[in-house]
Amino acid sequence: MPQLIAILPGDGIGPEVTAEARRVLETLGLDLRFEEAPVGGAAYDATGHPLPPATLDLARRADAVLFGAVGDSRYDGLARALRPEQAILGLRKELGLFANLRPAKLFAGLEDASALRPEIAARIDLVIVRELTGDVYFGLKSRGTTAEGLREGRDLMRYDEAEVARIARVGFETARTRGGRLCSVDKANVLETSQLWRDVVIEVSVEYPDVALTHMYVDNAAMQMVRDPGQFDVIVTGNLFGDILSDQASMCAGSIGMLPSAALDGSGKGLYEPIHGSAPDIAGQGLANPAAAILSAAMLLRHSLGMAEPADRIEAAVAAAIVGGARTRDLGGTLSTRAMADAILTQL
Ligand code: NAD
Ligand code: IPM
Ligand code: MN
Repeated sequence: MPQLIAILPGDGIGPEVTAEARRVLETLGLDLRFEEAPVGGAAYDATGHPLPPATLDLARRADAVLFGAVGDSRYDGLARALRPEQAILGLRKELGLFANLRPAKLFAGLEDASALRPEIAARIDLVIVRELTGDVYFGLKSRGTTAEGLREGRDLMRYDEAEVARIARVGFETARTRGGRLCSVDKANVLETSQLWRDVVIEVSVEYPDVALTHMYVDNAAMQMVRDPGQFDVIVTGNLFGDILSDQASMCAGSIGMLPSAALDGSGKGLYEPIHGSAPDIAGQGLANPAAAILSAAMLLRHSLGMAEPADRIEAAVAAAIVGGARTRDLGGTLSTRAMADAILTQL
């Protein structure tokens, strides 16, 4: 029985980059089948909801999900529950995808695409382990009016100890498979959620005496990320801090078009997506870098399907294409989305 991959292309450049990732998967000759469904603004236009029941059902049935991106300013006026972004948040919550792995490494040859000096950029090879189903994203939200009659907005930042402990374990386990160093990023000098976070991470660390644990405040971490990203091995952090730090890490590694991600439930089920969004400014022009989506497909094979060998082959093909000079515009080149994927396919 072939394994089922759900493809949810979404909006903007989402369909452009997932089409190339699917092409790469199809080229490998694996025992896979694919089903596509609309998500985000595309699903809202078609059905009136950004995450229609049939799309959620497909995601549940599938062995793994390959996701593009959602969102467009056209939907800014909608009630929050109907905005495209609710589709990805809903999928993460409904599928219990609490652990987000966001690897950032500089592919040889991209030193000059990085926002950092080449010798500093060359050292970047880290993984951000981002908690994905809690924090200020999923706490109580409200809009109202203060006693003085001022408009007010609230988003509750909240974690419980079980949520922190399970993502901490993912952080320690990830560090174990790499350089053995885990940096927990928080704001414990100001936030109660962060003090709980730090307390629990320290408690869990007793189970991992072989991993060297450090702690860093998020503002310092943002500074250290551009001062010397090579100092980090694995970073474990909350949902909001991880979102921001991963976009920052991407420009250290050359482009946001290079960073893949895996969202995992701890049992093997996963959703895989580039860390970037729908990039409305370049959508429909064939300018998007498909590497992040293609590398997400590699993570899908490795983490959900147990196919490490073809995953390695995809990553090696991306590396070889880049060494060979393949560059989309974000990397300082002129290749189209399709031509960049062709350059990667040639190396497969
Ligand atoms: P974005 O990541 O879409 O784009 C930021 C910048 O990076 C843009 O200039 C864009 O052109 C560029 N960029 C992004 N991906 C690229 C690629 N593959 N190749 C080349 N250049 C690329 O972030 P944004 O502009 O803040 O958000 C646009 C929309 O995407 C919003 O609606 C936002 O909510 C949504 N979004 C969705 C996801 C997701 O679906 N997981 C993630 C982030 C943002
Ligand atoms: C991401 C995105 C999402 C997030 C948005 C679109 C909800 O920025 O996947 O990084 O904040 O998690
Ligand atoms: Mn983001």
